[in-house]
Amino acid sequence: MNDNLQLNSDGKLKHFLTIEGLDKTLLTEILDIAESFIGMSDQQIKKVPLLRGKTIVNLFFENSTRTRTTFELAAKRLSADVLSMSIATSSTSKGESLLDTIRNLEAMFVDMFVVRHAISGAAHFIAQQTAPHISVINAGDGQHAHPTQAMLDMFTIRQVKPDFSQLRVAIIGDILHSRVARSQIQALNTLGAAEVRVIAPKTLLPAHVESLGVSVSHNLNVGLKDIDVIIMLRLQKERMTSALLPSESEYFKCFGLTEAKLKIAKPDAIVMHPGPINRGVEIDSKVADGKQSVILKQVSNGIAIRMAIMAMAMQTQGAV
Ligand code: CP
Repeated sequence: MNDNLQLNSDGKLKHFLTIEGLDKTLLTEILDIAESFIGMSDQQIKKVPLLRGKTIVNLFFENSTRTRTTFELAAKRLSADVLSMSIATSSTSKGESLLDTIRNLEAMFVDMFVVRHAISGAAHFIAQQTAPHISVINAGDGQHAHPTQAMLDMFTIRQVKPDFSQLRVAIIGDILHSRVARSQIQALNTLGAAEVRVIAPKTLLPAHVESLGVSVSHNLNVGLKDIDVIIMLRLQKERMTSALLPSESEYFKCFGLTEAKLKIAKPDAIVMHPGPINRGVEIDSKVADGKQSVILKQVSNGIAIRMAIMAMAMQTQGAV
C-alpha cells in the first residue's frame, strides 16, 4: 500500500492509515501531543476549540465499542461537529457502493472520515478517492492495521515504562488475524523496544512471522520469562475460516493468562488487552481485573491519542 499517502509534502500527517512508514520522531510527536490532552478529562470544561467549524464523520462498517465512542468523544472535545453514521440503517443496505457513500458525504462538506471496515485497505482506498482537503483516519481495516489502537497502547506503556529501549514485550494469542498486533509490532519496533516476542500456537501465527521483526515462542510458560509488558489478544473467530484450535478450554489451558502464569513474567510487568476481552478464553478475570492490569487505562488513553491524531491531521495541533 502507498504509505506516503499519509504525509503532506512537508512531512506532516495528512491521513493516519498505518504505522508502517512513519518514523520514530512522528510517533513520539503523537505521544507528546496526546500527553498535552490527557489532563482535560479531569477539567470541568472538557473542550478545546481546535477543530471548531470542522465536520467529522465516523463511518463504522464493523461493530465497535471502544474505538467508535472514543473517536466521537475526542472529536467533541476538540469542538468539531461529529456525525456517527449508522451503517446498518444507511443506504449501504440498499446496495450503495462505498465510493458512492463517500461521494455523497463529501457533498455535505465533510473535513474528515474516521473509517472502520472489514476489508483490508478500505481506509487507504477512501484516502485515495477523497478530495484533497479531507483527512482519513483508519479505525481498523480487516486484518491489516489498527494504528490508533497501537498508538494508545504505546502511550499507555510509556506512562508506566518510559524507556522503550529497555522493554521486552510479549504479544500473546491470535496474531494471525490481528490488525492490532501488526500495528503494535510496527510501533514497538519503530520506538526501539528491546524485544517484541509473539507467543501463540503455530496455527495462529502468520507464515514467516519473524520477518515482522519479532521473536517467537509457542510455549507461554517459557515465553513469559523476562517480559515487561504483556499484551493479550482475543481469538478473532469472526475471521477464522477453519478450525484452528481443538477447543477454547484447551486454548485457555495452554495460552490463557492466569495469576500463576503472570508470575513467570517480571514482577512489575503490566497486562494489556485492546478489548473486547473474552474472560476464561485468553485471560482469567483475576488477571484482567488485577493490580497489574492497565486494560481500562488503555481505553481512557484512547481519547487523548485520538484527539492528538485528529488535531495533527487537520494541522491544528500547534495551537495546543
Ligand atoms: N480495541 C478495539 O478496537 O475495540 P472495539 O472493537 O470495541 O472498537
